[in-house]
Amino acid sequence: CLERHYKFNVVLKNTTRLCSAKPIVTVNGKFPGPTIYAREDDTVLVKVVNHVQYNLSIHWHGIRQLRTGWADGPAYITQCPIQPGQTYLYNFTITGQRGTLWWHAHILWLRATIHGAIVILPKLGVPYPFPTPNKEEVIILGEWWKSDVEAVINEAMKSGLATNVSDAHTINGHPAPIPGCNSQGGLTLPVKPGKTYLLRIINAALNEELFFKIAGHKLTVVEVDAAYTKPFKTDTIVIAPGQTTNVLLTTNRRAGKYLVAASPFLDAPISVDNLTATATLHYSGTLTSIATTLTSLPPRNATPIATTFTKSLKSLNSKKYPALVPLKVDHSLFFTVGLGVNPCATCVNGSRVVADINNVTFVMPQISLLQAHFFNISGVFTDDFPANPPRVYNFTGTQLVNLRTTKGTRLYRLAYNSTVQLVLQDTGMITPENHPLHLHGYNFFVVGNGQGNYNPKKDPNNFNLIDPVERNTVGVPSGGWTAIRFRADNPGVWFMHCHLELHTTWGLKMAFVVDNGKGPSESLLPPPTDLPKC
Ligand code: C2O
Repeated sequence: CLERHYKFNVVLKNTTRLCSAKPIVTVNGKFPGPTIYAREDDTVLVKVVNHVQYNLSIHWHGIRQLRTGWADGPAYITQCPIQPGQTYLYNFTITGQRGTLWWHAHILWLRATIHGAIVILPKLGVPYPFPTPNKEEVIILGEWWKSDVEAVINEAMKSGLATNVSDAHTINGHPAPIPGCNSQGGLTLPVKPGKTYLLRIINAALNEELFFKIAGHKLTVVEVDAAYTKPFKTDTIVIAPGQTTNVLLTTNRRAGKYLVAASPFLDAPISVDNLTATATLHYSGTLTSIATTLTSLPPRNATPIATTFTKSLKSLNSKKYPALVPLKVDHSLFFTVGLGVNPCATCVNGSRVVADINNVTFVMPQISLLQAHFFNISGVFTDDFPANPPRVYNFTGTQLVNLRTTKGTRLYRLAYNSTVQLVLQDTGMITPENHPLHLHGYNFFVVGNGQGNYNPKKDPNNFNLIDPVERNTVGVPSGGWTAIRFRADNPGVWFMHCHLELHTTWGLKMAFVVDNGKGPSESLLPPPTDLPKC
């Protein structure tokens, strides 16, 4: 195994999209940022130098960070931020993982422009469990705001209301071409006929789940969140912020230009007007200037397409890549996820929209939780996060009389190597929306999901304990539930949150603390000497 060294200079870069320019925060001046290439078992060392005026931290989304929680990245969870002018070396080994993951800023809304792909190749000489592609491409889906993104969220936090949606979706940093600004949009993906391409698709958008489609071509899904799946063919993939999906694309046309599109999937009946992102799949030698359009882009509320896609996802579960689903459960947890409303004297409506898990709106601490855990600093967090919702929930549309949430920096303590079943129930009290929940430090198995209220007597009978899909980010369906299982075999403090940035900011987050019983200093490596201070 090798050491892979990268240097991330975080700098402002004036960038023009949609005919309007603004300085954006970038890594090495690139948007999206550079791809990290490594192989399974390699050690990755990324030196991050903060040249901007914002506090900074970078998360390696989906990397398990076995005993190296100090390199995980979420600000105030596993580290204090890298302050302006400071440097931090992220140092971690990729153990037992291969596939597509990604990295992104994990503080403020900086991940809007600070993100990039992590491509983990199998160990040398180990083939993919699918036909070897002729070529590989990284496809990063994102969003573009004409305004300053930090101003957008600051304004929303002041008013107590939601933010506007972005102005456009992007594919590898580019929106659809619009008249007059063509040079800033409309990415071209050159292909040759008769080949197989592996597309490594990442949804880096801040706030929207997306459909992704290529006109005239089917896609074969082979991996999600760096875990192999049973291959299946589909017209459309559905991908939530935080998720990654690898597909095989066979260029079985002779020539032509075909439209590639990423359009929003959102159940909420609110009017959203951001621009669909398009790119063009361009067969070599094609002279025509017109791209074949998509006959149908899924409508924003195409829940059946999303449900069918989700149902098709299964672990590969082969001899070489078995699905090690925990069959016995030590911790059975039931968490409601949703939005609430708290009073706010200075807000526009006298109230503010908040978000919660089990009625707790998470409050960020002043120093990192991992430091508090490791050095036994009291008063930073409590470990009394409720295992069950403290009050009646009801997703069915009857809004609760009391939408208030409680506040706290409350964690749930898991015994090292214990097994966990977590049922995530959407409450959909204010607007119906899917919540893509991301767990740091682990992959989990999605053993079940359904519409309506979870029924603890009946629903477990239908759980898939054989080949459930393995992931690190899962959608809790609007008005429904998702059940996951994992083994808590990674000591540390691990964040879990909605990957819709607005909901994270509003407090839809909590953390697990996992100890091996010998105390944190036995189970975790000591913090690196350059760990930033608060
Ligand atoms: Cu990709 Cu905590 O996030």
